[in-house]
Amino acid sequence: MKVRMVLILFAATLFWACNHNPFRQGEILYGNFCASCHGESGEGFRDLYPPVQNADYFFQNQLATACLIRHGMEQKITVNGKVYEQPMSAIPQLNAIEICNIINFLSHQWNPGMQTVTIDQVKEQLETCRDTTRRNSIPY
Ligand code: HEC
Repeated sequence: MKVRMVLILFAATLFWACNHNPFRQGEILYGNFCASCHGESGEGFRDLYPPVQNADYFFQNQLATACLIRHGMEQKITVNGKVYEQPMSAIPQLNAIEICNIINFLSHQWNPGMQTVTIDQVKEQLETCRDTTRRNSIPY
């Protein structure tokens, strides 16, 4: 009886740990909200969707990605020497913590050398684009 109790507690702890792993949450959210365009491994898709793996643009605009996710983007950009001009739709249903976890997942999984961003930095960044209603006027 006692052993069973311990096992249940152990399983519960593992379950809790997985659910509270920010990297894992970022990975799952990336799979649900981004991978359809940017690819399972962040490789992008032809001339339509830019890569987010080893992507110079993401590297240089890490925090601004918070506003990009929230409000979308509609401008010509160059990523790793290639021009992209399809718009990216806003994904307004993601909150600051989820956005933070996605950015950190991208940074650590596929873009070596990037720092971890904090939730406070992400919130601050989102303030700068809070009132933006027009996609193409975001300061990205
Ligand atoms: C419907 C397709 C689509 C989805 C879904 C999508 N994106 Fe994008 N993303 C794009 C396109 C297209 C661009 C280029 C936008 C432009 O040129 O204005 C882009 C640009 C970007 C960029 C800047 C360029 C680069 O590659 O460094 C980042 C970073 C990015 N997206 C991350 C994300 C993340 C994170 C998600 C999920 C939360 C996501 N995107 C979901 C299509 C998409």
